[in-house]
Amino acid sequence: MNENIEKFIEKFSESLSKDTFVKLILSNYKGEDTHLQKIMVRLIETKKGLRLFFLYRYDTRDTAKNYDFKEGVALVRQLLGKDFFNGHLFTTENDFQLDIGKKGKARLNIGKPTFKTKPSLSHNREKKSLISPNAFYLKALGITTDKGEIRDKQQDKWKQINKFVEILANVYEQIKGELDKNKLRIIDMGSGKGYLTFASYDYFKNVLGIDVTVTGVDAKAGLVELCNSVAKSCEFDGLEFVHGFIGDYEFDKVDILIALHACNTATDDAIFKAIRSGAKAIVVAPCCHQEIRPQIKPPEMFKNILKHGVMLERTAETITDGLRALLLEKNGYAAKVFEFISVEHTPKNNMIVAIKRQVKNESVKEIDEQIQAIKSFYGIENQRLEKLLETL
Ligand SMILES: C[S@@+](CC[C@H](N)C(=O)[O-])C[C@H]1O[C@@H](n2cnc3c(N)ncnc32)[C@H](O)[C@@H]1O
Repeated sequence: MNENIEKFIEKFSESLSKDTFVKLILSNYKGEDTHLQKIMVRLIETKKGLRLFFLYRYDTRDTAKNYDFKEGVALVRQLLGKDFFNGHLFTTENDFQLDIGKKGKARLNIGKPTFKTKPSLSHNREKKSLISPNAFYLKALGITTDKGEIRDKQQDKWKQINKFVEILANVYEQIKGELDKNKLRIIDMGSGKGYLTFASYDYFKNVLGIDVTVTGVDAKAGLVELCNSVAKSCEFDGLEFVHGFIGDYEFDKVDILIALHACNTATDDAIFKAIRSGAKAIVVAPCCHQEIRPQIKPPEMFKNILKHGVMLERTAETITDGLRALLLEKNGYAAKVFEFISVEHTPKNNMIVAIKRQVKNESVKEIDEQIQAIKSFYGIENQRLEKLLETL
C-alpha cells in the first residue's frame, strides 16, 4: 500500500487512541454501487462504549452502521484506494487530506485543524429545550453540526421539533393517569426523516425515563431504512420504523397517535385508525387539503370572495380541519385546533390535538347536525374521515 495512504490510516487510528478524532469523510467513490456517494464517520457513545458511526450517503437515501475502532480502521483501510479515492480526516491537532490518483499515487496534505475541540457526546440538556441539541440522532439527521450547534438552515426545523415536544409533553400530562402499567405506546404516521419521531422517543425515554415504544410509519423505504439504522446506532430500543402506507398499517393499541404533515387524506386515515383503536390522544398537523377544495360550491353570498384562489384555499383548509375536529368531538374526543408554529417557520401550521374524554359526550346529535349543515352549505359531498367512521 502507498505510504501516504498508510500514513493517513495511521493518523486516523492514532486520533482514536489519542482521543483527538473529530470526523472522517471518504469521498470520490469509484466502486460498483452506482448510488453510493460518500461515507461520513463520527464518534457515537453506545452502551458498549465509544463506537464509530459510519453514515453511508447515497444519492437518494442514507444508511448507517456502527463499528468498534479496530473494525472501523480495518474497513477504512479496505475502502481507501479501492472504492474511495479521497479521505478527509479532521482531528483536533490537524486536518489530513488524502487524494489518491490514477495508478495508486497518493498525495497527503496536512493542515491546521478546522476543529480545535472535540464534538460533545454528552446528553446534557440546555435549559431552553426539552431535548438535548447534543443528541446524536440530531447530528445523524443533519439538524446539528459536529459541534452540536443547530445548522443555520435547520433553525426552523429545530424550533418545530421543540414546539412539538412541548405539545407532546402537555398531552402526556393529560393522559398519564390512563396509561396501562405506565407504559406508553406512540405511533407516528408519515414519520418522514424521523425528526419528530426520534425527538418524541428521546423525550419520553431519556428525559422522563418512561417505558415507551415508538413506531414511525412511512411510505418511503429509503427514509425508513435510514431511520432504523440511526435508531440502531443510538441503541434506541423500542424505537422502530416500518415501511408502508398509513391506510394499510394495522395495530391493536396506541396511546398517542401522531401524524404531522402527512399528505392530503392520509391525515384522515391516521385519525380514523386512532379513533378505531381507542387512542388516548391524537396529534395531527394536516398538510395539503386537496379533497375538499374542488368540492366547494361557493354559496351565493360568498361567490365574489371565494372566486379568489387564495380565499378558496384557506376556506378549504378551515372547513377540512374544522370538520375533522367536529368528527373527533362526535367520536368521544375533546379537540382543539391551534397554530402549531407561526407561519414564518412553516406554511403548514394548523394543529389538531384531541384527548379522549372520560365522560360521554352528550351532544353527539347536535355535532352531527352541525357537520351536515356545513357540508350542505358548501355543497360538500365527501369527507374521507366521515366516510371511514361510517364503517365502525
Ligand atoms: C412532509 S413529510 C412529514 C414528515 C414528518 N411527519 C414531519 O413532520 O417532519 C410527509 C411524510 O409522510 C409520508 N406519507 C404521506 N402519505 C403517506 C401515506 N399515505 N402512507 C405513509 N406515508 C405517507 C411521506 O412519505 C413523507 O415522508
